[in-house]
Amino acid sequence: MYLRCSDERCAMKLELHQRALMCPRCGELLEVAAGTLMFSPQVLKELWWNRRCSRDPRDRSGVWRFREFLPDYPPRDIVTLGEGNVPLVPGIKSGAWAGLSDIRFQHLGWNPTACFKDLGMTVGITEARFQGARTVACASTGNTAGSMAAYAARAGIAARVYLPAGAVSPNKVAQALDYGAEIIEVKGSFDRALETLRHQAGPDLYFLNSINPFRLEGQKTVMFELLEELGWRSPDYVVVPGGNLGNTAAFGKALYELKTAGLIAKVPRLVVVQAEGANPLVRTWRAGSDELLVVNEPRTAATAIRIGAPVSWKKALKALRFTGGLAIDVTDDEIAEAKSVIGRDGIGCEPASATTLAAARKLVRGGTIPRDASVVAILTGHVLKDTDYITRSRYTAAPSEVEAAAVRSSAEVQAD
Ligand code: F0G
Repeated sequence: MYLRCSDERCAMKLELHQRALMCPRCGELLEVAAGTLMFSPQVLKELWWNRRCSRDPRDRSGVWRFREFLPDYPPRDIVTLGEGNVPLVPGIKSGAWAGLSDIRFQHLGWNPTACFKDLGMTVGITEARFQGARTVACASTGNTAGSMAAYAARAGIAARVYLPAGAVSPNKVAQALDYGAEIIEVKGSFDRALETLRHQAGPDLYFLNSINPFRLEGQKTVMFELLEELGWRSPDYVVVPGGNLGNTAAFGKALYELKTAGLIAKVPRLVVVQAEGANPLVRTWRAGSDELLVVNEPRTAATAIRIGAPVSWKKALKALRFTGGLAIDVTDDEIAEAKSVIGRDGIGCEPASATTLAAARKLVRGGTIPRDASVVAILTGHVLKDTDYITRSRYTAAPSEVEAAAVRSSAEVQAD
């Protein structure tokens, strides 16, 4: 394995374990180039499935179980919290609401730090420690911060996070603090926070935003796990929220590698969903533009995806083109309603994740997705990640109050 420039026209090669995040020749993002596979698709599928019964910590992780497609590390160097292996949950009320007979949720909020970032972070932090990093840093709308802080704590590395001031759910700030991260608040949006961090570059700071190609390698395994759960038969659509677009980029890379290696026959179409007020990829996609149409002041109540200039936009476009997918936006009200439906299904998620169901309904109503299509919606964060949003939502009933004296317990009633 080695690092390679993600721009095929440049395709510069670099040695795998190094700090560069951008191509030294053309400035584009880097990616990990896959090595040669030693096993047939059938052998790999059996090997991965059988590892579910193993006690090796690498096998208990839904990321490292698929390590034939990941950079290689000595087993004792791997930093894992047992991430991955989340169930696929059918959406019952959600299916009826969206008009779909087969919609399932892959709930990545049911991971150690309650969000999808853990899958990439286990590889990102493992690489950081392998390289001898003392401090890791990221800019974040909250979830990357918590995940990085937790894995850094496990690895004995200091964590520093740059957050857009006043624009991150308090639950997420509290979580990062609990794991011992140093928090720096930056005035302005996430994009400003990331820019600020990039100016702090130095040999002492290891970057763990999704610019980091090792994080995307771990994130890839979401697709491996999903397809394994479905017996390696691809659904028609995979719907995913898009912010900085690391997840989309990773899914595209995973599907390309799985198809090329003969592990799947058909590639599912990727649908990337953004909030209407923070929709740079959607604007770019609609315009068929080769330049990113940046949103200068992104706005949405789904703060996790309030991003106007996503770094991985080129990789995301590549993923959409390869899978025959599309990008779509939804309003904040559509997100709020979809979120309440997912809640009523007994599943729950954070606002950004609910964009997926809102988009599925919109695409069914518009005739793009047939009612009998199989759809998997990726839920990226847990319901408890943003509780203020829930109590403020117009789709949530307020608790009712009664006089304490008027209420009697069932024991008291029986005693009468
Ligand atoms: N959903 C949630 C809950 C997120 O936290 C994010 C991104 C996304 C979706 C979008 O994923 O960036 O890979 O396209 N959160 C980042 C963070 C930016 O800092 O926590 P993406």
